[in-house]
Amino acid sequence: MQVLQFQRDGRHGSNLSQSIFSTHKNPKYFPDPEKIDPSRFEGKGPASCTFVPFGGGTQVCPRMEYACLEIFTFMHNGVTKFKLEKANPDEKIAFNP
Ligand code: HEM
Repeated sequence: MQVLQFQRDGRHGSNLSQSIFSTHKNPKYFPDPEKIDPSRFEGKGPASCTFVPFGGGTQVCPRMEYACLEIFTFMHNGVTKFKLEKANPDEKIAFNP
């Protein structure tokens, strides 16, 4: 996500970017961040600008709503038309970094 772009003498200079991991994986904003807990999004939900899977500002993903529609359609059909079970019950999800 591009947050700021510095210019000097009318020319493009440095970009300052924010990694989504700096908030998505930060227990300050998302307690126990590795845990899948949809209830975090209930009520007021996450603090402003902390949950940014589609980026933000002027470069925000222009097809964010379309992508959400696709995901909701996929998930709806997935849970209503199929029975899901873990292929490997002991497999752990690991993030790197
Ligand atoms: C789960 C699905 C998607 C995710 C998580 C996602 C996420 C993102 C992110 C993080 C950015 C960069 C935002 C930034 O620089 O701050 C972006 C940009 C963009 N996305 Fe998506 N996106 C998704 C789906 C889509 C789809 C389906 C389309 C088109 C049909 C799309 C088109 C674009 C375009 C054109 C940009 C560049 C915008 C620009 O630079 O002005 N994205 N997206």
